[in-house]
Amino acid sequence: MQYISNSLENQWMGYTSNRDFKKNPRLIIKGKGINYTNHHGENIIDGSSGLFCCAAGHGRKEIADAVSKQLMEIDYTPHFQIASPSSFELASRLAAMTPSGLDHVFFTNSGSESIDTALKIVMAYNKARGDGYRSRFISRERAYHGTNIGGTSLSGLMKNREIFGSVMPGVAHMRHTWSPNSRFTRGQSEDGMELAEDLQRFCELYGGSNIAACFVEPIAGSTGCLVPPEGYLQRLREICDLHGILLVFDEVITGFGRTGKSFASESFGVKPDIMTLAKALTNGVLPMGAVVVKNEIYETIINNASDGAIELFHGHTHSGNPASCAAGLATLDIYDNENLFQRGADLSGYFLDKVFSLEDIPSVADLRGYGLFAGIDIKADGAPGVAGTRLMKALFAAGLHVKFTGDCALVAPPLISEKKDIDNIFGIFRDVLVSSNKKQ
Ligand SMILES: Cc1ncc(COP(=O)(O)O)c(C=O)c1O
Repeated sequence: MQYISNSLENQWMGYTSNRDFKKNPRLIIKGKGINYTNHHGENIIDGSSGLFCCAAGHGRKEIADAVSKQLMEIDYTPHFQIASPSSFELASRLAAMTPSGLDHVFFTNSGSESIDTALKIVMAYNKARGDGYRSRFISRERAYHGTNIGGTSLSGLMKNREIFGSVMPGVAHMRHTWSPNSRFTRGQSEDGMELAEDLQRFCELYGGSNIAACFVEPIAGSTGCLVPPEGYLQRLREICDLHGILLVFDEVITGFGRTGKSFASESFGVKPDIMTLAKALTNGVLPMGAVVVKNEIYETIINNASDGAIELFHGHTHSGNPASCAAGLATLDIYDNENLFQRGADLSGYFLDKVFSLEDIPSVADLRGYGLFAGIDIKADGAPGVAGTRLMKALFAAGLHVKFTGDCALVAPPLISEKKDIDNIFGIFRDVLVSSNKKQ
């Protein structure tokens, strides 16, 4: 194991079975295009764009050059009271891409920070507009909104919540949108729009004027690509408007072309009041997140403070970090120059055909997909996640990296993928699933 000079013991890895990993580590030492190389020198296709980050593929020289140039010009500047020009340039570029009227951008370093920042912006906005009694937040079962205390409170995944007590109070969860009747639905299901009425029921239970915001992932990502039923997001928007509730779309996974458009809000034709972003903003190359808000939210908070006073007591040492901004700008250039969102949209039909071709395999329990994103549920075998982890390891050994949550494989190839890459991904998937069926 030439790449492991030290013991593996000292690093404590997140969302990992540390004991199991350290017995037989999976180390990635190179990346180019849609491929990784592991420490045995074997090729591993990146079937999940890392963790839904590397939309433009690995080893992008344009990004490395831009970061290197930035570091040699100005490596670091605080973002409180002084700032680097590249952060303003990136904010303008993002504002031009996000839905009209959402033109103000707050930089963070991750999706988790974007979520907790969005929670604080909602609170600050409601205070500033004299609606400070709006203290309740609505989220959804099976939601994933990162790992900070706010995001953990919004989380709808039992394992991510159960040992962390009641965390932030005042959060209620709508039902998730998966139903056994909609198994094997490609794209949006015609059934399930009525699940949005859960929000209306919370308004009737708590009083709509006490609810501050409703947080949803347009497609619930980490839980397994739950595509919203037709009309569902539109109905959430209507209920929010009726009661003055802010609608927050967590687009940390769905942003930057994953759904065939710049953002899922565009794909589904629903405009939120706030969007949270991260991951593919820098092609995953450097940590960065952003919260994009409706102009009225920004203006209300800004204009509520006295002249010369700080308007929002919130920020990070690395908000608008120059190197991350340079990576972001170079990434957005690649998306534009290579028309990558359209390329992803053009490949979606072929990709989904391959996903749904797995339906005949007995161990496949459900398939879902939209854009270049799919969830493949496999039948449980013992405790939840046992079958999924076994399959994840078998796929990796066969040359394919896929991110799993429990017994669900999340396939999300880079937007630069070609049909032959999709063939290779699903060729490996089928072979491994079929051979593991034979062994059972
Ligand atoms: C929808 C969503 N929100 C927030 C996060 C948290 O992002 P990060 O891991 O960058 O903190 C994730 C991560 O997967 C996510 O999928």
